[in-house]
Amino acid sequence: PRIVVLISGNGSNLQALIDAQSHDRLGGGEIVAVISNVADAYGLKRAHDAGIDAVALPHREYDSREAYDGALIKVIERHEPDLIVLAGFMRILTPRFVQRFLGRMLNIHPSLLPDYQGLHTHARALADGVASHGCSVHFVTEELDGGPVVLQAELQVSADETVETLQEKVRAREHLLYPIAVQWFLEGRLQFTPEGAKMDGHLL
Ligand code: GRF
Repeated sequence: PRIVVLISGNGSNLQALIDAQSHDRLGGGEIVAVISNVADAYGLKRAHDAGIDAVALPHREYDSREAYDGALIKVIERHEPDLIVLAGFMRILTPRFVQRFLGRMLNIHPSLLPDYQGLHTHARALADGVASHGCSVHFVTEELDGGPVVLQAELQVSADETVETLQEKVRAREHLLYPIAVQWFLEGRLQFTPEGAKMDGHLL
């Protein structure tokens, strides 16, 4: 199976997927291309170093979100992916884009969804004094950070927690979680349904 990964920045989750692939822990999946809307994203270097096609597609060169997403669809489809993985891709997607890849596009979000959709999740969680926090892998639908959740990792927030320490802890969990979700999907154990994600026939 063929995987296309979309990024905007550092690409540490991309790296976790690359490492899983090289250890044969990605359900036989192959990352065939990495596309970034930010030309100097460090993740593009990670892709290049791993021998993966690394494509910069800067959104600034397009007049509208529709035009950009249209171009992005073209680049993605050239690679004939079975799965699209959003790994820190910091763009709101048009309905057309989401519909095109519905049921075969995953995202990872740094909160225990449905709590803390959107940005600055760690700071907001700390401000609320939560006891636990974490990250979620979900199918992408038109609702931002609102698609069916596939897998979550929860961790305890310590008394002296800062945004930085929390981010570091959550990020480490993301790196464990995302390759597992991708592996499940590619093994055919994980499905999207409008009622929610299904794992081995069970609604999650
Ligand atoms: C992660 O925290 C992820 O949850 C969010 O964006 C960040 C990407 O980090 N969607 P990286 O680029 O994979 O290091």
